[in-house]
Amino acid sequence: MLKQVQHDLFSNIMDVLDLLEIESEVSLPKRYSELSEQEMIARVHEIKAKFGKRLFIPGHHYQKDEVIQFADARGDSLQLAQICAKMDAEYITFCGVHFMAETADMLTGPDQKVILPDLRAGCSMADMADIDQTEKGWIKMQEIWGDTILPLTYVNSSAAIKGFVGKHGGACVTSGNVRKMLEWAFTQKERLLFLPDQHLGRNTAFDMGIPLEQMAVYAPLTNSFEYEGNFEDVKVILWKGHCSVHEKFNVQHIENLRKRNPEVNIIVHPECTFEVVQASDYSGSTNFIIKTIEAAAPGTKWAVGTEMNLVNRIIDENPDKEIESLNPFMCPCLTMNRIDLPHLLWSLEKLEAGEVVNQITVPEEVTKYAVLSLERMLERS
Ligand code: 13P
Ligand code: SF4
Repeated sequence: MLKQVQHDLFSNIMDVLDLLEIESEVSLPKRYSELSEQEMIARVHEIKAKFGKRLFIPGHHYQKDEVIQFADARGDSLQLAQICAKMDAEYITFCGVHFMAETADMLTGPDQKVILPDLRAGCSMADMADIDQTEKGWIKMQEIWGDTILPLTYVNSSAAIKGFVGKHGGACVTSGNVRKMLEWAFTQKERLLFLPDQHLGRNTAFDMGIPLEQMAVYAPLTNSFEYEGNFEDVKVILWKGHCSVHEKFNVQHIENLRKRNPEVNIIVHPECTFEVVQASDYSGSTNFIIKTIEAAAPGTKWAVGTEMNLVNRIIDENPDKEIESLNPFMCPCLTMNRIDLPHLLWSLEKLEAGEVVNQITVPEEVTKYAVLSLERMLERS
């Protein structure tokens, strides 16, 4: 029942978004709305079999079941980046979001082509930092702190931001290696700038023993800092960005659950707010969440604070445990959901016909530095 309500709510949101769609958006040919799910599934299998090893489909854990069933590898952002770096397939049809496809393009060779089945599959967090804001903010930070800052960027960022970070000696991080990368960053410089997710930066730095009083927030829209202490004391500068999906979990959800079910284990993604992570029992990447619940004893109770497609899959794959979403009215990540079976089939049928659609290509001058930031991360992961 609850799943049905969530599904209906989500479909309505998607309908509204579709109505608001920019007019120039090329919609899929009508044929794809007329095919049955079974017909589409059969066609995807057929095309995959035809291409064999020339085609590789990586799928992020947040992808819908109708898409993830075709993934040659499932993983979190770190695992997918590691896999793509070793991948020699000619075509990589990426079932994930734009920054993941850009990362795949930068880690693969010039003859390999990365395809994103729907170009609207972005990430609202990645969009919260653009390169102009970053360059402007960096000038201000240099005026205050001089050459004492190392920039680190979450992989949920544009290739241009990764390039900026690489050029200034910094690296990328994912939620799977963030602690290790912050520890490394402090061997390089006295302070660090962490962008674009303030929560992941704050949660990790606090875990390492850095008090909140030593963390300033940089607000890109006003080019100013939200900080009341002495600038000299700042160790971490947090970019004021967040994930709109993970911000939907709050401490009230945790209190309600614990009251109703005192034995429940609460596990959340570190993109959740500081208060939520502090009130939870565990936090970690999507892969960490999956593995922790898989390894738990039968009969244990879990509430999960992350994207809904993944929570539903964890529920289905662990029938021996009692699992629910931390927020009962949670929706999936709208942009991850842009990749659906019709778009996947459309991009593959185009490929079959000899046409590469929605290719993601990062310009050479950006790749040059962005790859440095990715390599620094992969070397340490
Ligand atoms: P992971 O790196 O944990 O897979 O998370 C990616 C993401 O976008 C979470 O919102
Ligand atoms: Fe981006 Fe949040 Fe969606 Fe992850 S869940 S892709 S951070 S908007």
